[in-house]
Amino acid sequence: MISSWDRATAELDPPFAIVDLDAFDANLDDLLARAAGLPIRLATKSVRCRGLIEYVVDRPPGIGRLMCYSLREALWHQENSTSSDILVGYPTVDRAALCGFDDGARAEITLMVDSVAHLDLIDDAVGARHPELRVCLDLDAAWRPVPGLHIGARRSPVRTVDAAVALARAIADRPNFRLVGLMSYESQIAGVPDAIGSRVRDLAVRWMQRHSAAELAERRGAVVAAVRELADLEFVNGGGSGSVETTRADPSVTEIAAGSALMGSTLFDGYTRMRPRPALAYALPVVRRPDDRTATLAGGGWVASGPAAASRLPSPIRSDLRLTGTEGAGEVQTPVQGEHVPGLGERVWMRPAKAGELAEHVRQYHMIRGDRIVWTTETYRGEDRAFG
Ligand SMILES: Cc1ncc(COP(=O)(O)O)c(C=O)c1O
Repeated sequence: MISSWDRATAELDPPFAIVDLDAFDANLDDLLARAAGLPIRLATKSVRCRGLIEYVVDRPPGIGRLMCYSLREALWHQENSTSSDILVGYPTVDRAALCGFDDGARAEITLMVDSVAHLDLIDDAVGARHPELRVCLDLDAAWRPVPGLHIGARRSPVRTVDAAVALARAIADRPNFRLVGLMSYESQIAGVPDAIGSRVRDLAVRWMQRHSAAELAERRGAVVAAVRELADLEFVNGGGSGSVETTRADPSVTEIAAGSALMGSTLFDGYTRMRPRPALAYALPVVRRPDDRTATLAGGGWVASGPAAASRLPSPIRSDLRLTGTEGAGEVQTPVQGEHVPGLGERVWMRPAKAGELAEHVRQYHMIRGDRIVWTTETYRGEDRAFG
């Protein structure tokens, strides 16, 4: 793998990032096979590269639907015809962007809401007599087995059938909104690896995920049935890369959102349910040799978001190299240590912990097949797009 990447990129000076298209295609095929016919909606936050998103949309059998992470991003993709079915996966309070809807955007973009306050804010931003906007109701998917214990992301306040019906009714009562979808993302299953190699912890995670999936299937099913009495739902979105199997098994779900599984970043290594190949990597140059066992790389502090932990650091792909405990991945330099470290001017290949954020650090992705670069495309950053 590394040797063919080295051959493909021999002419490039690091730092640069690559996408291994053979690995990417295989990951895409695996994801589609795991979904077993249920449509996938591409989580663009885990890609952040328009050329690569278009590649996924166009590659047969195609993933035509997008889940964007900001309204400005959704409007940009809609203008560029990347997709005609774009869900903004998170609520927006971006008043200027809300004023940017034309008829095309109104038909192709769906906004996320979890409260009447969201509807009021939209009305306030664009004027209460705006033409109909498509909205999706966000249902909390966290597991709360006992009072006071919340396992999962802190997202929507809508958790029960009653709360969902109340919001669906409030939307139905307002002629300028149409409820077209429902989403509930079970981060405690999709985003928590269950096979990192610590036996007790892994067994506990599997136990939690089994019980959470059962609880959610029952609650989500009841909510969807009740909301369908009030609204003609076009889709019920659930899950993420790590939960395809349990999300698919819930008959109320009509599509699954996923992105990370295509890139194979390190946080998605430890799952029993999938084994994405590393498709995204970057090379950093050795600029110093402080001693025989240390090679210092330029830059490299591309640490993933989330709770500050070692798992958020990038990893050298060579298993005999490791970051140091004192410097980690540094702002201007990153030492790596091992028995046989590369020499000055050589390069070290790294994998990011998360799939999307690398595109905030480099302007281009070089697409590799075998030992050739077959095309090069701009990342969001390369297109001067920063969506937060
Ligand atoms: C709403 C939502 N759906 C799905 C996902 C799954 O995305 P991925 O498969 O890229 O981890 C996420 C990730 O955070 C999300 O926030």
